[in-house]
Amino acid sequence: MNMRNKIVAGNWKMNCDISQTYELLDELKDSELPEDVTVIVTPPFTSLQSANQALVDSDIIVAAQNMHQAANGAFTGEVSAAMLNGVGIDTVILGHSERRAMFWETNEILAAKVNTALENEMTAIFCFGEELGDRKSDNHFNIVKEQLQEGLFHIKAENWESIVLAYEPVWAIGTGETASPEQAQEMHKYVRGLVADIFGNEVAKSVSILYGGSVNPANAKEIFGQEDVDGGLIGGAALKAEDFIAIVNSF
Ligand code: G3P
Repeated sequence: MNMRNKIVAGNWKMNCDISQTYELLDELKDSELPEDVTVIVTPPFTSLQSANQALVDSDIIVAAQNMHQAANGAFTGEVSAAMLNGVGIDTVILGHSERRAMFWETNEILAAKVNTALENEMTAIFCFGEELGDRKSDNHFNIVKEQLQEGLFHIKAENWESIVLAYEPVWAIGTGETASPEQAQEMHKYVRGLVADIFGNEVAKSVSILYGGSVNPANAKEIFGQEDVDGGLIGGAALKAEDFIAIVNSF
């Protein structure tokens, strides 16, 4: 994936069976999408191969919502990088707050998943973000710094061409309580500064940092217009073709 380009990724979460997947993709395929925006959809595992085939003549990228860090083995219910590669998937979301909270994904586990993604020449959309309590206690910068330092910052400078960052304040996910454009810009600028401190300005200037958390057609333009915001990771609004297309066209 090119460096610091505009990206809008739809995180479908546990939604859309195969027929709903085809229905949603048919609407997206037939829509006018800007050429300078990378558009990503992340159907559930059961739809990945079909989605990839359905989008064969489209620039829309199909990505996975997760993967296990091991190459294979006794991990009932899990999916490996090789299995994803085998159905044409080379982009994966890692560290979504729902997986951190409900599936006990620690920064250590995520560091291992990042390594597996890089070893398998995949692009990782690495999610991070604070809980409401962290922000209320003005600890949100420390939390984000820790998530990045422990889960991602072990990589080499050259690995950054395979990384997309996604800031998702947990209190804004699925709540309708979107972070203000100023709050998003403040955290994105802080994170870009962290990357610059450790990996240098070239890397910091080239990494895409997406915002996620109740993005919709009404607020996308102002959020995406912030200096350090390069697009969005969209949940609920990604399941409505009209809204997702409007968000993609919001730059
Ligand atoms: O990964 C994106 C997602 O967590 C945001 O969800 O519904 O607030 O857009 P939503």
